Amino acid sequence: MARSDEKAHIERLITEMTLEEKVGQLTMLSGELVQTGPAYAPVTSQAIRQGRVGSLLNLWGSERVREVQRHAVEGSRLKIPLFFCLDVLYGLRTFFPIPFGESCAFDPRLWERTARVAAQECAVEGIDLNFSPMIDVARDPRWGRTVEGPGEDPHVAARFADAKVRGFQTSDMAAEGTVAATAKHLAAYGAVQAGREYAPVDMSERQFHEVYLPPFRAAVQAGVAAIMPAFTDFNGTPMTANAAVLRDIVRRQWGFSGVMISDYSSVAELIAHGVARDKGEAAALALNAGVDIDMMGHDTYFEGLPRALERGLVRLDAIDAAVRRVLQLKAKLGLFEDPYRRCGTPSAIAAVGAQRERKELAWEAACRSLVLLKNDGDVLPLRDAPRAIAVIGPLADAKGEAAALVEASEGGEKALAIVDGLRAALPQANVAFTAGCGIERIDTAGKERARRLARESDIIVLCVGETLAMSGEAGSRGHPSLPAAQCELARIVLAQKKPVVVLLFSGRPLVLPNWLVEKADALMAAWFPGSEAGRAIGDVLSGRFNPVGRLSMSWPVDVGQIPIFFGMRPTGRPAAANDHYTSKYLDMPNEPRFAFGHGLSYSRFELSGLRVNQSKLRAGETIEVSIDVRNDGPLAGEETLFLFIRDQVSSVTRPLLELKAFEKISLAAGENGTVCFKLAAGDLAFLDHDLAPRLEAGTLEVHVGQSADADGFLSTQIELTT
Ligand code: BGC
Repeated sequence: MARSDEKAHIERLITEMTLEEKVGQLTMLSGELVQTGPAYAPVTSQAIRQGRVGSLLNLWGSERVREVQRHAVEGSRLKIPLFFCLDVLYGLRTFFPIPFGESCAFDPRLWERTARVAAQECAVEGIDLNFSPMIDVARDPRWGRTVEGPGEDPHVAARFADAKVRGFQTSDMAAEGTVAATAKHLAAYGAVQAGREYAPVDMSERQFHEVYLPPFRAAVQAGVAAIMPAFTDFNGTPMTANAAVLRDIVRRQWGFSGVMISDYSSVAELIAHGVARDKGEAAALALNAGVDIDMMGHDTYFEGLPRALERGLVRLDAIDAAVRRVLQLKAKLGLFEDPYRRCGTPSAIAAVGAQRERKELAWEAACRSLVLLKNDGDVLPLRDAPRAIAVIGPLADAKGEAAALVEASEGGEKALAIVDGLRAALPQANVAFTAGCGIERIDTAGKERARRLARESDIIVLCVGETLAMSGEAGSRGHPSLPAAQCELARIVLAQKKPVVVLLFSGRPLVLPNWLVEKADALMAAWFPGSEAGRAIGDVLSGRFNPVGRLSMSWPVDVGQIPIFFGMRPTGRPAAANDHYTSKYLDMPNEPRFAFGHGLSYSRFELSGLRVNQSKLRAGETIEVSIDVRNDGPLAGEETLFLFIRDQVSSVTRPLLELKAFEKISLAAGENGTVCFKLAAGDLAFLDHDLAPRLEAGTLEVHVGQSADADGFLSTQIELTT
């Protein structure tokens, strides 16, 4: 159907629809193949034929989708196709690292490529819309959903959002191998009080605009098809009912014309929040705020909107506008043309699955997500020599969830266990394994096995951390640390006085005991690396792949430091060791365990010669900031550099550091190169007292370094004139 015919078709449908059919289009129900929220009766074919539902979540698979779609396009009065949605956060068949791990690659091209593959896999399995990317900034590792997002920094999160949206959608959502993306959860969900899931958010408007909104704006600029408001209360108004944000900022100021999909039952939850008495009021609040689709809402839209209309709480044209947006999305997805377009034939599915490049991409993404935190005495890379390597810990075999959901996924490939990955990478070594303990339980026999194996070996790789289920939605932990049983195991292993490499699996930075960090010879954050976990870890530990990952979130020493992030504002009394009345703790340092951007390589990079091509900059101009890099190590490697600014004096206080850019360079051993950053005057704008963007004349410090740790900075200054 041509675009103009489609428009006419949509208008015709709206004219022909009954009120019930309209609210049906605004209702999303579950096919319940997986459960991602409170239990709920799955959709019935009768409801579909009656037009009481416009889209489904949690149902996929070419044949199943085809069968269900048939009820809509053959059995319902107006024959409007459904669209099908799923949370595909790190892949459907090919599993990439968890998004938080992937963000540590600091590689927008990679972020886009993995999204492309995920979209291609979805687009033959009946999935039209992905509830991804999750772009909430997270500065509190207690919050379990840290695992789903890109970490603490708005600039990184905005680039992640942009890359993911492009990867999922391309420039034409009806094209082969594409799906619609959803930017979620708008916004500030990552700042739930005390890191507790679903708790309220109470923050300044300034912080909201400076830190939490920019990634969503980037997603809108990239053309994201859908937005999901957060479940949470924001400064007294639940996001689902927050017209000031959803309607006034996102729709009016940013010009977002796509679909807003409520989070799971969050329209109904407006009653529990205490802003609506009944379904009618809840439905009116959400619709008037800009929410088009009620996901799993216990019929809040379906029953509530007609009541709200009767009571004069909503207008029919607002319902029509929401229906129009839903139908427009269906048109953009190409569903009016062919409602089965994403139901691939068995050979199409097999062709997508069989591609070797996917496996290679999963391997590359996994390698790039690993962050080497410590490597004393260059204990890594492990040499391939005939010696005894003990792999100890409950996360060392594939069943230990190192490979995320691979084992559980229908038709997903079996992952190589970490221990097998090491055997493959070090064929001359004698690699032996014992778990030693469970995730949270240890017994005498397990301890004894671990002690014996450690004693008999030349080097130990200790695989400890969390299971995947210990993070994610409803995965808040008051103390996000290494479980006690695993600490005990670590003590036993470290007591054998052998070199110990600790591999940490987690969906967040973990609070680690000081003794573990001090005594371990090497520490590597592995997160959950996905399908190719074993191979990637084997290749990185053996030096076939030189580590490149960097932390996208500051790593706390203790829970008491949370929230901890590099972009704090200055205090009038900066910490000074010998001055009591300064900003510090009496019982722990101010500094994180590992700074944002920290991550070692087997190479050593030296920075020198920071320079700008012009030191004065006017509105509209762009300058170049260059720095020379030398690889002084024995191996070829890749370095990531970060450019921060600090505004020395401004009318509003500004963070101590603001990240404006990051760039990479690959250098052979002994090679020199130059990294060049572009810095536009517009990048230096900040929000004034009225939260309007403003460029202010003044001197700005420019710092370039390997992390947010100021000790490693090379610095210069620029003058901004307006
Ligand atoms: C989560 C969303 C998710 C939705 C559907 C909710 O509980 O907060 O992120 O997209 O369920 O599965």
